[in-house]
Amino acid sequence: MGRGCGRWWWVAVALVVAAAAEGAREEAAVAVAVAPRRHAYAAMMYMGTPRDYEFYVATRVMMRSLGRLGADADRVVIASLDVPPRWVQALKDDGVKVVSVENLKNPYEKQENFNMRFKLTLNKLYAWSLVSYDRVVMLDSDNIFLQNTDELFQCGQFCAVFINPCIFHTGLFVLQPSIDVFKNMLHELAVGRDNPDGADQGFLASYFPDLLDRPMFHPPVNGTKLEGTYRLPLGYQMDASYYCEYQ
Ligand SMILES: *[C@@H]1O[C@H](CO)[C@@H](O)[C@H](O)[C@H]1NC(C)=O
Repeated sequence: MGRGCGRWWWVAVALVVAAAAEGAREEAAVAVAVAPRRHAYAAMMYMGTPRDYEFYVATRVMMRSLGRLGADADRVVIASLDVPPRWVQALKDDGVKVVSVENLKNPYEKQENFNMRFKLTLNKLYAWSLVSYDRVVMLDSDNIFLQNTDELFQCGQFCAVFINPCIFHTGLFVLQPSIDVFKNMLHELAVGRDNPDGADQGFLASYFPDLLDRPMFHPPVNGTKLEGTYRLPLGYQMDASYYCEYQ
C-alpha cells in the first residue's frame, strides 16, 4: 500500500514536472488526456465503392492532418460493419476511434437520376447519434487540414459552407449530436422526404432549407458556443481549384 502510494506520487510529480517543462500547452494536453473530449472530427467509411482502398487511405491522411495540427478533439470514423478488421486496426493505431454501424438503407435508390455511388452516403446521418460530444465536425474523406479549425466547435446546431452559391455542401459541416434529431431524420427517410439527389447532401439541404438566409459564423472571442444554424465562410472548405488560384 505504502509502496503503491509512493509510486503514484512519483508518477504525479513526473507529470507535473514534464508539464511545467513543456509549457502550458502540454499541461493542457495532459489534462485532456484524462477527461473525455467534448468535441470530435468525424468521417464515415463504408465498403462497396470502386475506390474503397483509396477512401481508406484518404481518411487516414485526413485524420493524421488533424492530429498533426494538435486538434483538441477526438477523431472518429463511423465505419460500416464490413470494413476490414485490419483497416479498423490501422485507424485505431493512428489514434482514431472507430464506431461500427449498420448501413442505413437508402430509400431513394429507385429515384430517377440516382447515382449508385452515393448509395451509402446516408450513413453520414449517424453523426447525430454521437451524443457523447457537444459538437461534431463531420467530414468527407477528401478533406485535408492546413490549419487548426477547432473554433468550428463553437458553431451551433448545424453549420455548413455554400461552395455552390445556392446549395450548401456536406463535405464539412458542424452539428450538435441529438438522438431526437437522429430519430427524426430516420423517420424522414422512412416517409421518403423530398431529396433531389438521393444522397446525404440532398437530404440535408431538404432538412435544413433555411441555411442560406442564416447569418455567417463568427466564433465568439470569449470561447462560448453559439446556438442555432449558421453559414460557414468558404475558407473552411476550399475546393482544390480555389486553393491553387488564391493561396
Ligand atoms: C460571449 O460573447 C457573446 C458575443 O460574442 C455574448 O453574447 C455572450 O454573452 C458572451 N458570454 C460570456 C459568458 O461572456
